[in-house]
Amino acid sequence: MVEVPPPTPRIVFRRLRPGDADLLDTLDRDEGVMQFLDWEPPSRAGQRAIVTERLRQDERWPGHGCFAAESPAGEFLGWFALTARDRPQVPDLGYRLHRRFWGQGLATEGSRALIDYAFGSIGADAVEADTMAVNQASRRVMTNCGLSYVRTFEVDFDDPLPGTEHGDVLYRITRPEWLARAH
Ligand SMILES: CC(C)(COP(=O)(O)OP(=O)(O)OC[C@H]1O[C@@H](n2cnc3c(N)ncnc32)[C@H](O)[C@@H]1OP(=O)(O)O)[C@@H](O)C(=O)NCCC(=O)NCCS
Repeated sequence: MVEVPPPTPRIVFRRLRPGDADLLDTLDRDEGVMQFLDWEPPSRAGQRAIVTERLRQDERWPGHGCFAAESPAGEFLGWFALTARDRPQVPDLGYRLHRRFWGQGLATEGSRALIDYAFGSIGADAVEADTMAVNQASRRVMTNCGLSYVRTFEVDFDDPLPGTEHGDVLYRITRPEWLARAH
């Protein structure tokens, strides 16, 4: 089985490494990046524990995972993920990029590569993604990659971010839809 999605013209994917905690930390400490993510950045030790857990999940679900995204020159752009959750045949697509790389089509380019990989290499039946309804850039990435809006659902947080009242949105692309687009 292929271990990582193949590279795109501007993105090289690789598996996370234990030493990546600091890289992830710089991303998570940027308030702009975290605007629509209801999650307090963990301590350095916490970040290392997250990487360890992700590596453990990689062993459990070998085709899925969180992939560091680098430019062909080796600069860290951010990450893309296919998370198995409780249904490995319907992985959840996620992405987080440094702000200086936004607005250049990179999230769309990387997400398309992960979707092709999910259907072509790990046998997914569908790929899903969700985000806050007010996260327009993320929603646009989803539709640009061929995912369709499924539903809006309520989320309950102790300390909700602005916009939480509009709920979260779920998007999906099925294998037949992917085949119809790809061939
Ligand atoms: C979401 C994110 C990955 C997008 O990255 P990106 O590389 O800028 O995305 P792309 O350039 O591929 O596409 C962005 C699309 O959103 C559009 N867009 C950006 N900001 C927008 C806004 N405020 N309103 C409407 N559309 C917007 C862009 O025009 C583009 O659409 P287009 O190609 O049809 O013109 C990036 O903003 C990010 O890392 N955000 C923080 C993490 C996050 O929110 N992740 C998703 C949580 S589920």
